[in-house]
Amino acid sequence: MTEQAARKHLLIVDDEPVILQILEAVFEDEPVRLTCVGTGAAAMRVLDESGCDLLITDKNLPDLNGLELLKRAKELDPFTEVIIITGYASLDTALTAMEYDAFDYVVKPLNNVFDIRKKARRALEKRALAIENKQLLGELAGQNLALKTALSDAVALQAELIQAGKLAGIGTLAAGIAHEVSSPLFGILGLAEAIPEESCRQKVDAYAAEIVDYSKSIRDIVVDLSSYSRTSSDQDVSPVDLGQVIQDAATLVGRGVDLSGVDLVLEIEDGGLIRAEPTEVRQIFVNLVKNAIEAVRDEHGAEGGRVTLAAGREVDHLWATVTDNGVGIHQDAMEQVFDPFYTTKAPGKGTGLGLSVVYRIVTKHRGTITVQAGESGGTMFRLQFPIAD
Ligand SMILES: Nc1ncnc2c1ncn2[C@@H]1O[C@H](COP(=O)(O)OP(=O)(O)OP(=O)(O)O)[C@@H](O)[C@H]1O
Ligand SMILES: [Mg+2]
Repeated sequence: MTEQAARKHLLIVDDEPVILQILEAVFEDEPVRLTCVGTGAAAMRVLDESGCDLLITDKNLPDLNGLELLKRAKELDPFTEVIIITGYASLDTALTAMEYDAFDYVVKPLNNVFDIRKKARRALEKRALAIENKQLLGELAGQNLALKTALSDAVALQAELIQAGKLAGIGTLAAGIAHEVSSPLFGILGLAEAIPEESCRQKVDAYAAEIVDYSKSIRDIVVDLSSYSRTSSDQDVSPVDLGQVIQDAATLVGRGVDLSGVDLVLEIEDGGLIRAEPTEVRQIFVNLVKNAIEAVRDEHGAEGGRVTLAAGREVDHLWATVTDNGVGIHQDAMEQVFDPFYTTKAPGKGTGLGLSVVYRIVTKHRGTITVQAGESGGTMFRLQFPIAD
């Protein structure tokens, strides 16, 4: 842009040549491009051809009213500022000028030309500000639109994530159920295989009774599934002998897992009762003992493994520990072992859900579970439950 074009265009219209001369002199040193014309028609032509930033016009031109010029200038560019020159200093004149959205007016004879220059400068400043504001508004509107688009993108993404989360939740649930059902199922399988080889009728009856028990726990899991969305109510829980449940769990594991070379030691003090769903609490210890056996197998192979199940009573809680002399858990992994799908086992060997099921059941029974390295290597899980009075 040339310097000339960058200057503000000031159009002055008056039929009195003296006034035009005075005004030309007033604005001579201003950084404006000046056009002076003597008639309304000439002014209209200038406006139509190149417009102007500031129009200073006589109100009473011989060929048309100065206010018509004002109107035309504003039509072409609403930000054009206009100063009206009038012969009468009356309230009426001032009101008319303001009504037509003129910036200001000056009264003839022009006694104080510096006053006109000041008004012109302020008018140009106002125009520059108005244009800048409009630009800013435009930018804001653009940013607003971008924000709106970003927001609706985020909402869509959130919906997708929720959907994906639900799907993942269903997968976790299904895998968790498979995990929980597999323990009693192994028990049933072991007993059913033993029955045909057993000649003692009493033992067969006992096996059958156990099969019924295991089947009931599978039924409980299925029932639990159908009520998955509701939180468990008090009617599902009953006073349960913690020591007895731990012994049952040990027996159940013994049926499903090869224990040769692993010492499974029970150190159960006469503990007490907790309020719980018995099959769920048994599942806790089944999972912990299975993990322990897998860990000692990894460490010792065919012999030398030891898994200790202990339980007892403190003043205000019952406690239980499952300790092994297995491979141990690396310090960095201690916090992750309860996460669903965290596993260090080979693909197909472990789902990584055992401990997440344990954690869910323990917290559901208002208990706590912690893990730490065993005193002589290996791992110790420690649990606490409130005592049922
Ligand atoms: N007693 C333990 N000794 C050493 N590591 C253990 C022990 N218990 C759990 N872990 C570690 O925690 C991980 C998660 O255990 P979790 O029972 O949740 O799943 P998993 O045993 O891998 O799979 P699944 O239970 O489905 O067979 C295991 O892969 C193992 O690395
Ligand atoms: Mg496991």
